[in-house]
Amino acid sequence: MTARISPSILTADFANLERELGRIASADLVHVDVMDNHFVPNLTFGQRMVESLQRVSSLPLDVHLMIDDPDRWAPGYAEAGAFSVTFHAEAVTDAVGLARRLRQIGARAGIAVKPGTPIEPYLELLPEFDQVLVMTVEPGFGGQKFMESTMPKLRLLREATARSGLDVWLQVDGGISEKTIGIAAEAGADTFVAGSSVFNAGGPEEQIALLRAAAGSHVH
Ligand code: DX5
Ligand code: ZN
Repeated sequence: MTARISPSILTADFANLERELGRIASADLVHVDVMDNHFVPNLTFGQRMVESLQRVSSLPLDVHLMIDDPDRWAPGYAEAGAFSVTFHAEAVTDAVGLARRLRQIGARAGIAVKPGTPIEPYLELLPEFDQVLVMTVEPGFGGQKFMESTMPKLRLLREATARSGLDVWLQVDGGISEKTIGIAAEAGADTFVAGSSVFNAGGPEEQIALLRAAAGSHVH
């Protein structure tokens, strides 16, 4: 299996997003970080931005909602055409109900956990999800240091998917670079969000290739 690379436009130039998408054409997905300044202490953009990106992006949009009350807001992102919509376990009221709703609209359903949130309660819900996002930094900002302390969660998830035979993508987000991606891949991740390491690189396409190669030998 090859690693999926999902560059996060959080570190891109917001005034030139269409052009920025053109710099990452070899990526598998585009990671779109929606922040509401309540769930996290930072503010980005909302559904209209996702609709606009959807019109110009040839890559699938991987929407990561760092917002309160996803039960209310997440379906709109699926309706906007997002390929996947991931909400936070800490913010949702009815995780299974919301995941079913997202799938019904036609999006992949994802659940995310912050570094301090245990994964055990969600293992039995894996059949309800298409992807799980393990945050490897505190959500809110790009450019933070990868937290290796989160890796046991990936091992548990990988064991659970292997045992059940479920095809649930295991995603990591935060501090992913050519130095850390192998650690996450070895622990069980197969989908890698990378913001600053891709968009701050001189050549984003070269950096994507570098990340793919560094993950490649470890991905299960
Ligand atoms: C952080 C966001 C990430 C962010 C990662 O809360 O969810 O997607 O863009 O940025 P880097 O790769 O720079 O850590
Ligand atoms: Zn993210």
